[in-house]
Amino acid sequence: MAGAELIGREELAEIQELFSREKVNLYRYGGGNYKTREFEEKFAAWIGVKYAHAVSSGTAAIHCALAGAGIAPGDEVITTAWTFIAPVEAISALGAVPVPVELDETYHLDPLEVEKAITPATKAVVAIPMWASPKMDELSALCRERGLILIEDAAQALGASYKGQKLGTIGSVASFSFDAGKTLHTGEGGIIVTNDKEIYDRAAEFSDHGHMHLPGLPRGKDPRRSKGLNLRLSEVTAAIGLAQLAKIDTILSMSRENKKKIKEAIRHLDNIILRPFSDEAGSQGDTLIFRVRDREAALQFEAHLTEHGFGTKILPEALDWHYAGVWGHLLGEYDRYRGLDLEALWPKTGIMLRSSICLNIPVLMDGETIERVINAIVSGAEKIG
Ligand SMILES: Cc1ncc(COP(=O)(O)O)c(C=O)c1O
Repeated sequence: MAGAELIGREELAEIQELFSREKVNLYRYGGGNYKTREFEEKFAAWIGVKYAHAVSSGTAAIHCALAGAGIAPGDEVITTAWTFIAPVEAISALGAVPVPVELDETYHLDPLEVEKAITPATKAVVAIPMWASPKMDELSALCRERGLILIEDAAQALGASYKGQKLGTIGSVASFSFDAGKTLHTGEGGIIVTNDKEIYDRAAEFSDHGHMHLPGLPRGKDPRRSKGLNLRLSEVTAAIGLAQLAKIDTILSMSRENKKKIKEAIRHLDNIILRPFSDEAGSQGDTLIFRVRDREAALQFEAHLTEHGFGTKILPEALDWHYAGVWGHLLGEYDRYRGLDLEALWPKTGIMLRSSICLNIPVLMDGETIERVINAIVSGAEKIG
């Protein structure tokens, strides 16, 4: 749950401050307040990039990031077969072709599979860090060698890092989400970060009907060079974002500490396999992933956790929203996928996901709750045999 757990007085105070001004303006491009701009500046400084542009959701953020990077109809965009559906929807909304590939053992894009999927039409690779880092050295080198744009949809991984560098600052552009399950929560919201002025400008234009935001011009006279949508963030949401951002280091360190305690206590269990990492020290605390024998054992484990008052997160209960193998409604629009048994395209990923458990690690956990989670995992592991 992360930031959503800590919503409270500070968020309210930011909203009250917005309403206490002489002229209240809730629209990001109106005169006067500019909570959105302050949020963008503070976020860019925290993560360590030159530019940040806040938008209405994480889905909007990856949509704008792709548009900002120049993804156009017919371009092939390689991404992972395990992701929430949003980046694949965004690729498709731009008329580009999503090319999901199999996972590696860390549950991320497998650089070897990415290499195999490259064609002359490939324009970009979207890495999707799931609370930890993909093999970014290999992916960066491959993209450099093959002239591809590396994009990070780091919606799930704000605060994670790879070899000391924050995720979201490694590719050409990255996106984040502030929905209810993410590190920071603003109701709805997302942000794009980049060091590339051209990508930033184009992403910002796309989020605002193509407005170029040229200084000194009234909005109605502002020109455009490409099309866009309304994906703007409101000042109220940005005010909440400012209060949440001030809590980010606490959120990250508390959930990391909770996860560490749980992991240490279950490391010895024989019949669960904790997921390996490309950089464990940089991983987030938010979610714990482990594998069991097979699908049946995963379902049994999930039922056991539920009985003990702990739900799973994404795997196994929401697999259908996070696995390309069941997205005939979207991928079926493309000739290359139409009529195929999609599951058969990513068999390794399907087996991994169906035999995995993801457990949410809250920020606020007292010692007794941590003990209960540990006991539930230990007894679940005994039960599946
Ligand atoms: C990788 C990824 N991208 C984008 C999104 C969409 O974010 P939002 O719910 O803010 O639209 C999510 C949400 O879970 C996600 O996991």
